[in-house]
Amino acid sequence: MLTLLSDKMKPVLWSKIFFLLLIGVFVFGKPLEYSEHKSEPNRPSEELGVEGAFQSDIQLTPEQAREIKADDFPSENGRLRRKASSNMDSLWPKGIVPYEFENNFPWTDVVLEAIRRWEDETCIMFKEVSPSIQAEVGHTNVLKFSRGSGCSSTIGRYHDGGTQETFLGDNCRSVGATQHEIGHVIGFYHEQSRPDRDDHVLVTETNVARGRLWEFKKYDRNHIRIDEPYDIGSVMHYGPTWFSKDNRAHTMDAKDARMTPIMGQRHGLSFMDVKTANKLYNCNRDCPTRLVCENGGYVGPRCTCVCPKGLSGQTCSEVSRGSTACGAVLRQAKGTITSPGYPGKYTNSAICNWMIKADEERTITLTFEMLSIESSDKCDYDSLEIKLYGPELAGPKFCGVHQMPDPIVYQGQSLVIRFLSDSSENYAGFKINYTIQ
Ligand SMILES: *[C@@H]1O[C@H](CO)[C@@H](O)[C@H](O)[C@H]1NC(C)=O
Ligand SMILES: [Zn+2]
Repeated sequence: MLTLLSDKMKPVLWSKIFFLLLIGVFVFGKPLEYSEHKSEPNRPSEELGVEGAFQSDIQLTPEQAREIKADDFPSENGRLRRKASSNMDSLWPKGIVPYEFENNFPWTDVVLEAIRRWEDETCIMFKEVSPSIQAEVGHTNVLKFSRGSGCSSTIGRYHDGGTQETFLGDNCRSVGATQHEIGHVIGFYHEQSRPDRDDHVLVTETNVARGRLWEFKKYDRNHIRIDEPYDIGSVMHYGPTWFSKDNRAHTMDAKDARMTPIMGQRHGLSFMDVKTANKLYNCNRDCPTRLVCENGGYVGPRCTCVCPKGLSGQTCSEVSRGSTACGAVLRQAKGTITSPGYPGKYTNSAICNWMIKADEERTITLTFEMLSIESSDKCDYDSLEIKLYGPELAGPKFCGVHQMPDPIVYQGQSLVIRFLSDSSENYAGFKINYTIQ
């Protein structure tokens, strides 16, 4: 049974964000250029991304700036020079970031919430600066959160001590956008700066605004996030129209077009963002035993396995159960997965997790017999997520009623499928056959 699309509006944080700011862009350590960017009124603001289309949000140290200059953008002159450098010295000693707010900073609550999530899931700690903290960490660097016209941060800790500022403008007055800026502070570059990004996203240079090509520069392997798989769902990734010459043409697309809507998400930290930070700061160094976590899980700061969303158990070999009776670990060679209540309408606020589990790497094929899920722009309301890039990464999300996906083939041992519904608008759901071969 097909149901008509509903056009309801929900209060989504992004839609409240407007980009009417005079934005200061910091390049090579000093303000270089100012540009005013206005969003078109009829355009969904989330497309611009929280940083705004013409804003760079990285303040570079002189060393980092030299490195960027040395690594010429490959297509401009056909070569990419590699420079050995280690950014390990830009980590915060003991994982402690001494910080302060500028006087009368207006939304400390948002910043503290962003900090809290980083602290909850990593061993990184933000401590209000004091002489005793400075004695404990052995340096005088202080991170200062200041209100700015735009949003920008340094990458990691400045070597030379003193105050380094993270500027937060009205357009990053959200927990997710602040988590992104804090990501820079603890040492993350943008995800699409990785040297292997061309395997995952396609940059269309001709659509990039003039003078902004360096935003799409790749960094060399010494820049941290290379040991982990590329994460299109990272809070450190740009969105498809960022730095576009006309704010419309895509500067970047995922090679798998189904993943493009996920790019530039600022809902919050991805599983891989947190996992990488844990690794970077060696958060499990004091754990007594070497637990082996499965399915992309890792030993976290509490010395237990931290599992990708939807998985649980001591070694992440089970699926998490929501309140609705749904979800399972499926080990048979073939079977069927249906939405809760199928063939009736699915239930409200469902969280269902399935893991199709083979005993070794196999070919898992999904064939759709039915798909009818409330439609929304990025499947933000109700969605069927199929973790085609492995349990620890975002996968394509399906929603809507008009298109039945072609059969989906996954090579691997564990295919995780998640169904989430919100508190209204229930549809007939889905029925999927699977086979393991
Ligand atoms: C799904 O499996 C059932 C039972 O094996 C079969 O009757 C049906 O044709 C299959 N549907 C598709 C779309 O392959
Ligand atoms: Zn950034």
